[in-house]
Amino acid sequence: MTYSHATSARPRILTGDTPTGQLHLGHWVGSVENRVKLQDKYECYFLLANMHAYTTRADKPDEIRASTIQIVKDWIACGIDPERSTIVLQTECPAIAELTWFLAMLLPFNRVMRNPTLKTEIEDKGLGENYPFGFPMYAVGQCADILAFRPELVPVGEDQVAHIEPCREVARRFNQLYCGVDPHTEDGDYLQAGGLFPIPKAEIGRVGRLPGVDGKKMSKSLNNAIYLTDTPKQIKKKVGQIFTGRQAMDEPGDTSNLLFDYVRAFIPDPDRVAELERKYAAGDDIGDGHVKVEVADAIDAIVAPMRERRADFEGDAGDEKVIELIKAGTRKANEVAEETLYEAKKAMRLDYGRRVLELG
Ligand code: TRP
Repeated sequence: MTYSHATSARPRILTGDTPTGQLHLGHWVGSVENRVKLQDKYECYFLLANMHAYTTRADKPDEIRASTIQIVKDWIACGIDPERSTIVLQTECPAIAELTWFLAMLLPFNRVMRNPTLKTEIEDKGLGENYPFGFPMYAVGQCADILAFRPELVPVGEDQVAHIEPCREVARRFNQLYCGVDPHTEDGDYLQAGGLFPIPKAEIGRVGRLPGVDGKKMSKSLNNAIYLTDTPKQIKKKVGQIFTGRQAMDEPGDTSNLLFDYVRAFIPDPDRVAELERKYAAGDDIGDGHVKVEVADAIDAIVAPMRERRADFEGDAGDEKVIELIKAGTRKANEVAEETLYEAKKAMRLDYGRRVLELG
């Protein structure tokens, strides 16, 4: 048997963000820019992973709610079009939670804990041994987030690739165990071979990992992130903080520094980038200050249209609009995710009838 989605007109994408703050430039170059572009060719599902936010912030429900709404505004500001793409609220998409349970049976505990992204997070957030059971569970949940939508592609930043790998493993496992797919099947052939789940591929953005202005991982707590809501003044100030250690404009500079990571990430004209690199390396009368002004202007050119699109969603009325978009998207998403869960249960001999889910 082959499943219906395999023949749908446009291949699917699923990706998302955890609402633990607002989006910054790292999100933009790592993934969101890509998502905006892929909207035409793919049927896109963008997930608000609010359940995951509770894994480390269960004591901050108000913050999670505010951030959930903020992220939708960031998405729209970036050019994600809710008419074409579907916004999914994780906590109102119960098929994800149910699928998490089933997939958890197919992933060895040690495999889940071996995930380098989880390990880094435990370290960075100083969780030690005191994280809740639900924390590593989110890594299994992320497999379910993805597979509930049976996408081909998962556009993510580099740090998320370690989460996509177990998703691919568990998809193969499920297909082999419950759909009778031969374990020697090539990843691209699983659907044809009768599998329910495609083996989804990660797709990394133009810049997989953009460091903060201090060279460390971009994060809210380090105060080193440039946000998509920053004003031109804030952008200038933050770019100004980039430290190169170079003393004078006639001193040959090393273009593998952080400042030039920003040059390459944000100055759109490749000829200008090459020229700056050449002059900087030669110490040809070009100071850090000058390069920083160009970088800040280039960043502002990206962010300015975002400010305009965001203007329609200000204040409480904007929040209300966002909530309506979340509801409408999640209703649509549930149709897809419920279908997947139904097929998965059938494959698992849990075929006790079909349910109808209604979102108020
Ligand atoms: N873990 C991702 C992050 O923190 C968010 C996320 C949750 C996600 N589920 C996903 C990303 C599924 C891609 C696919 O950014």
